[in-house]
Amino acid sequence: MALVLFLVHNCVHETATPQMVASESPPEPETIVANSDPESFEECSKITRSVLITHCGSCHQSSLDTHKAGAIVIFDLDKGANWHTDLAEEHLHGIAKRTQNKSTVSEQQKEAISIFLELKELELN
Ligand code: HEC
Repeated sequence: MALVLFLVHNCVHETATPQMVASESPPEPETIVANSDPESFEECSKITRSVLITHCGSCHQSSLDTHKAGAIVIFDLDKGANWHTDLAEEHLHGIAKRTQNKSTVSEQQKEAISIFLELKELELN
């Protein structure tokens, strides 16, 4: 649990950009693990994308000669922050399955991927 909280904290604050508008809402309670905070989603999406570039980029990056047309249809890691827009709910499980058992993916990265997939699922429903 401590790890999860630590990670969400990172997800929310790691690349916090200065707010253009004065914040009117009270601070987020620290106990919310996966909320639909757009900053948290974007940050976890970024971490997920960087992990997938390492492990899946050869087929899922349209700029590489080795890319597979079928793979690009599912997700294209070269679309920057929009890499996940074509994902359907059934693909989320496929991403989880292919990343959660990898020893080269850190526990923090796995947590960020889980949070991303959870929030993405909420978005699709
Ligand atoms: C060797 C090429 C290749 C690599 C590497 C690759 N993929 Fe794919 N992927 C494909 C192709 C081609 C498809 C299209 C469907 C098919 O032909 O199976 C696909 C489809 C998918 C799908 C949707 C269909 C399904 O099976 O769930 C998901 C999700 C997916 N890939 C995730 C990943 C993830 C996550 C990684 C990295 C851990 C990865 N892929 C690495 C080629 C690849």
